[in-house]
Amino acid sequence: MVQTQRLAADAAGLAHAAAILQGGGLVAFPTETVYGLGADATNAEAVAGIYAAKERPSFNPLIAHLDSIGAAEAQGEFDETARRLARAFWPGPLTLVVPVAKTCTISDLARAGLDSVALRVPAHLLAHALLEKAGRPIAAPSANRSGRVSPTEADHVLGDLDGRIDAVLDGGPALVGVESTIVACLGGAPRLLRPGGVAREAIEAVLGQALESGAEPGASPVAPGMLASHYAPRARVRLNASAIEPGEAALLFGPVRPSGIEAARAVVSLSENGDLTEAAARLFSSLRQLDATGAGTIAVSPVPETGLGEAINDRLRRAAAER
Ligand code: TXA
Ligand code: MG
Repeated sequence: MVQTQRLAADAAGLAHAAAILQGGGLVAFPTETVYGLGADATNAEAVAGIYAAKERPSFNPLIAHLDSIGAAEAQGEFDETARRLARAFWPGPLTLVVPVAKTCTISDLARAGLDSVALRVPAHLLAHALLEKAGRPIAAPSANRSGRVSPTEADHVLGDLDGRIDAVLDGGPALVGVESTIVACLGGAPRLLRPGGVAREAIEAVLGQALESGAEPGASPVAPGMLASHYAPRARVRLNASAIEPGEAALLFGPVRPSGIEAARAVVSLSENGDLTEAAARLFSSLRQLDATGAGTIAVSPVPETGLGEAINDRLRRAAAER
């Protein structure tokens, strides 16, 4: 339980909110669409805190919020279509999913391990001022507990998250009230992934072309909100491993020492002292690291199903699923 502060929409409130974000804390803030639950997108532990506060059972990729088109272009690769949409609708309620740039600093956890990234430059003046002061990309899903409705006032945020986040910056009601429109610009035709605050027709008018709809052809979402393009390692993933076979890569959790560990190809621990927030923060980068060793199988120790463990196990089960 933390003391959640309500911060006023003035210079002192903004400075305080930015300092909390820079220190890895959680601050809910207004955008023109809904209130977002913000954390430093470059800090995986801070991002893990978002999932913990929301009690999200899986790690959906999050939108990173930026204060300018220039800052967004340092995080993602913008093709001609993405550039046109950014110029037409930013700042505003549009999110662009683009390939990750080489200079991207957004954590693997915020991207759910994907090679693409969701970026948005919000129009709300307070959000803009906060992003400018924080000086880094801020990951922010809607500031509600998982499964509840999105908040459009600071009171809604407190109703759901009081005692679970550091602060809420009170900027009055959010005017749009629905989340941003999400468009993927990943090389093929631009695709509408989520309808939202900018109408499809307005986007199509700017592009002079119709948007494709839904997930990519051939990609069957495993569960609502899950994209088939979610990161899956090349290696087979074996769960609840209490022993390691020779040549397997081992992904450990807690102070365990499975038999056969000496003959492992590589060993990485999600958290030696069994801290689920630390484990969440390391999950995707650890899978990548072990995959890069060329091991045929990644054997994973059991992870408890409590707290963030539910989301960690959800991702691990998806990584282990038959492909
Ligand atoms: O209006 C909004 O967009 C609000 C405010 C706070 O800005 N934010 C918001 O964020 O709705 P969030 O994190 O709840 O939305 C994330 C959604 C995911 O569910 C996923 O559908 C999509 O964005 N997304 C994020 N990264 C993606 C990626 N790399 N590829 C495809 N979809 C992605
Ligand atoms: Mg939401």
